[in-house]
Amino acid sequence: MIVAIDGPAASGKGTLARRIAAHYGLRHLDTGALYRAVARDILANDGDVTNPADAQHAARHLDLGSLTDPALRNRGIGEAASIVAKMPEVRKALLDCQRTFANTPPGAVLDGRDIGTVVCPGADLKLFVIASPEARANRRFLELTAENNTLTKAEVLANIHARDARDQFRDIAPLAKAEDAHLLDTTNLDIEAAFSAAVELIDPVVSRAGCVS
Ligand code: CDP
Repeated sequence: MIVAIDGPAASGKGTLARRIAAHYGLRHLDTGALYRAVARDILANDGDVTNPADAQHAARHLDLGSLTDPALRNRGIGEAASIVAKMPEVRKALLDCQRTFANTPPGAVLDGRDIGTVVCPGADLKLFVIASPEARANRRFLELTAENNTLTKAEVLANIHARDARDQFRDIAPLAKAEDAHLLDTTNLDIEAAFSAAVELIDPVVSRAGCVS
């Protein structure tokens, strides 16, 4: 059983993915953490996130055990991640480990930008989670405020717009809804309501597949 969840920054897909994985006894991979970890490792080695050779080296030597590092959520790492994520060398280096994770029993929930379109095009269920840029900026602002953020709400909104543009208009694996993905707009939904909507879509698939706890 594979559930693919894609969507733009701060759309709520990560929280939703964790809830769904716990509910159905599936494993969870936040694929954004892979790109964030590549950016972290380049910066830690005094490399340049715009240099494909530095990025490829970091992607090939990524320690998958380091994906829970709290530093991955640091300000600036998300921006840097979306720069390395544009590079074909980086995406290629990270593809196999994502597919292996997805295909290991009992299956998994993966969230990112290209899961339904590139990484797991045959996923049992695909969600494309969206929310207005303003709602997403509000959520990110609250998250950042809890961590002593100094950015204004307007700056957070500008960052969201910049990241959306970079993710949607890149040449390789851009953020896009797979044709067979269900659209879930969380602009006016809290996490409980979004989770309930997702469960309504997933339950029938689980009953048919009969393969998760
Ligand atoms: O948590 P947030 O939505 O802000 O970002 P993230 O999911 O951690 O992803 C960080 C960056 O990695 C994104 O802006 C994308 O550029 C990139 N990414 C990607 O290209 N493909 C994925 N499957 C996941 C993330």
